[in-house]
Parts: sequence; C-alpha cells; structure tokens
Amino acid sequence: MSAPAVGVPAAGAGEGAAGHGAGCPAGAGRVHLAGPPVGPGRVHLAGPAVAERFFAAGDDELSHADGWNAVFGGRFGRGVLNLDGERHRSCRQALAPLLRRSAVKDHQDLITELLARAARKLPVGTPVDLHAFTQPLAFTVAARLFAGMDEDEANELLALFGELRTPPAGELGTPGGNRAARRVGRARRRVREMLRVAVGRLEDVDGPVRRLRALPDPPPDELIGENIAILILAGYETTGYLSARLLWLLARHPREQQAVREEGGDPSTAPRLDAVFQETARLHPPLAWLPRRARSHLDLGGLQVPAGTEVFYSVSNTQRDPELFADPHTFRPERFAERATGDAAEGSTGAERHGRFALTPFGAGRRICVGIHLGTLETKLIVSGLVREFRLTAPDGLPIGDVSHNGSTVTSAAPLLARLDWLFG
Ligand code: HEM
Repeated sequence: MSAPAVGVPAAGAGEGAAGHGAGCPAGAGRVHLAGPPVGPGRVHLAGPAVAERFFAAGDDELSHADGWNAVFGGRFGRGVLNLDGERHRSCRQALAPLLRRSAVKDHQDLITELLARAARKLPVGTPVDLHAFTQPLAFTVAARLFAGMDEDEANELLALFGELRTPPAGELGTPGGNRAARRVGRARRRVREMLRVAVGRLEDVDGPVRRLRALPDPPPDELIGENIAILILAGYETTGYLSARLLWLLARHPREQQAVREEGGDPSTAPRLDAVFQETARLHPPLAWLPRRARSHLDLGGLQVPAGTEVFYSVSNTQRDPELFADPHTFRPERFAERATGDAAEGSTGAERHGRFALTPFGAGRRICVGIHLGTLETKLIVSGLVREFRLTAPDGLPIGDVSHNGSTVTSAAPLLARLDWLFG
C-alpha cells in the first residue's frame, strides 16, 4: 500500500467540476485523502480501496450515530440513519420489508398522482427552479408514505424541517442567539407533536409504526416518531436533489432527453432512463460525504486514525476519479448503457474495471441505503413523467447551478433552472 496522498478540491460549477474532488490525485488501488484539507481530528478519504474497509467497519469502529449527529446536531432525533448497534439492527430489520422493490412498486400510482398534482402548478414558458419543485414533491411523498400526512401537513412539516436543518445563526447569550434557540426549540416541539399524532394515526396500518411495535424489544413511541422523521429526512433531501439534477442535465442534453422520451415503457425498467439515472448519481451524488466518528484506534488501509477522529468518505471524489472513469466530469450515460448491454470494450469505462466500490451513491455494505428502491423509482417517475409532458431547455444566459454542501448533503447554491414548454398543444 503506497502512502496516502492529500488532495485539495478544485472549486467549480456545473456539470463538469462539482466543487468537490476535481483535483484529487486518486489511485484505484491506494488509500487517499480528499479535500477539503485535513484538519486536526478529521480525515477525508476517497477511493475504492479504502471504501471497502470504510463500509465494512462495525459501528463500534466507525460510528454512524456520532458521524450523522455531528451533521444534524441530533435535532431530528434518532432513526435508522443515526442509530448504532442492536437498536439500529432491529429498527432496520423491521422497516426494510416496507422498502423492498416489490413493496415500493405498490406506491407507483400514488407517486404519479402526487407528481401530476404538483406539475399542474408548474409555470410554463419561463425558467423554473427544478429543485424548488422536486424537493417539496419528494417531501410530500415521504410524509404520506411514512407518516400518512396530507399535503397541508407535509408542507408545515417541511417548513419546520427547514428550520431544524439550517438553524438561524447566533450565539447563545446574545439576544439574536437566544431568539434563534427559542425558534429551534419551538420547531422541535411542533415536529414532535406532529409525529406523535402520526404514530397514533398509523397504529392500525401496515407501516413503520406497526412494524416497529412488533419487535421483541419495541422502541418507545417517541423513538418510533423519530424513526419516521429520519426516514422522511433521508428520503426527501436525496431524492429531491437527484431528480432536480437529472432534469437539469436533460435540459442541457436535448439528445439524451429525446432518447428518454422516445423510450417510453415502464420507467422502473427502461434501460435508457436507468443509464441516465446512474450517470447523474455518479456526477452528483446527493450524499457527497459520508460522516463517521472513530470509536477506537483504526488502521484504515495503512492510515492510522486515532479514536475520536471524524472520518469522512467522499463518494463524489471517488466517482469523478479519472483513474476510475474516463472523462470523469462529462455527462456520458453510455458508460452505463454499454455495461447493461455488455458492449463495452475492455477497459473502456471505469465502472467495469473497478467494481462496486467505484460507485457508491447509495453507500454500500450492511448499511447501504434502505430506501434505494424508493429513491430510484421516485426519481425515475418524476423524470419520465415530466419529459413526457414537457420539453426542457436551458436557454443561453441561464446561470449554471453551482454546488454547495449542507452538512453532508449537497444542495444547489445557485438555482437549477430550466425552461419547460408543453410538448403538445
Ligand atoms: C435517490 C435517492 C437516495 C440516495 C442517493 C440515498 C443515498 C443514501 C446513502 C449514500 C446512504 C448511506 C449513508 C451512510 O453510509 O452514512 C443512505 C442511507 C439511508 N437512506 Fe438513502 N438515499 C436515497 C433515498 C432514500 C429514501 C427514499 C429513503 C427513505 C426510506 C432513504 C433512507 C435511508 C436510510 C434510513 C438510510 C440509513 C441506512 C442505515 O444506516 O442502515 N434513502 N442513503
């Protein structure tokens, strides 16, 4: 194993440089560190070699709870994303059957209906902020599926989540800081109350409440509510961002857009749409950095990591590594289409050569995204639903959506704009 190298990310915008990782001196076979620069008590890792070790680590080695709570400040409570150990295992086991591919397929009509309702309000013939459209839609889907909420309740909860996600700044002890703390406190109490009502309402429904209550050691109702909050949180930010990015890319690649439109068929199995989906998840993984905290002294592929260190694995750096993916900053869905049809020339793309740890937009291992089928289906339904109704364009002069980080989640600093025009009539 060669010595780790330090990489500092190139700043940038748009589809090419994502503002993270473009300058990383990566190597498929070695551990390397990725920017932002490493500080005391913190390391940033990238590359398939270390990924295998990172994703195989037990919670007693690399804690998800401590990692994610540092991102959210614990303000959403605890759920499958930020629990460790036995409580994590049992909650995940209880919820996973609700999120299997076959179970998720049953929600196709509901998602399509919510999409159609939201799309009716879309302004036509003028630039639209795609993320501002997809994010509330993804939230409404998650709030309906996991908490049985109608659109008004979902809208209220979304606004409260916004307050908890990026709490107003200000130091405690100053008037501004005290006001901010009171606002966050109020938002937390209201979220808890809404979740308490949801738990009561879902008692007799085959969903998260019944599944968690059926465990041999059921969590208290408050933790059931928090689990629901974490499912909604993990589900909407990711799906909302990925579907907006995909639509934004299609607006900039009219030939791809037309190919997806002409393909038709069932969006969950359409190969062209799948290739476009995978390429978007490669270029713009919504969870760009995966956070952990070392619980003990660890050897991560030769890198000595003391207990207590914050460890971040960079999905985005790895997925744009030129040694793994030819022309890594270019939107080229064919790399996945080739793979699907087995036409790829030997070594023509990184995905074939470097296997599953080159691409981890949904994580990997025992803690791989439990909502992978829902997130995938939902994104594909949103995209195919819109391109069948509208032509998306990115007229000259529209700003290119930049990238910023909200903790570990990627958001767009500048809006992801596209113009929508009716295809027919
Ligand atoms: C396209 C959309 C999505 C993407 C890209 C995505 C990505 C990810 C990633 C990378 C992880 C691993 C996190 C880590 O290792 O720290 C993860 C975990 C998780 N995701 Fe997703 N996700 C998506 C949609 C969803 C949806 C719809 C749900 C709702 C159920 C969901 C719920 C979760 C949960 C609960 C975890 C934690 C799993 C565990 O630790 O056992 N995700 N997701």
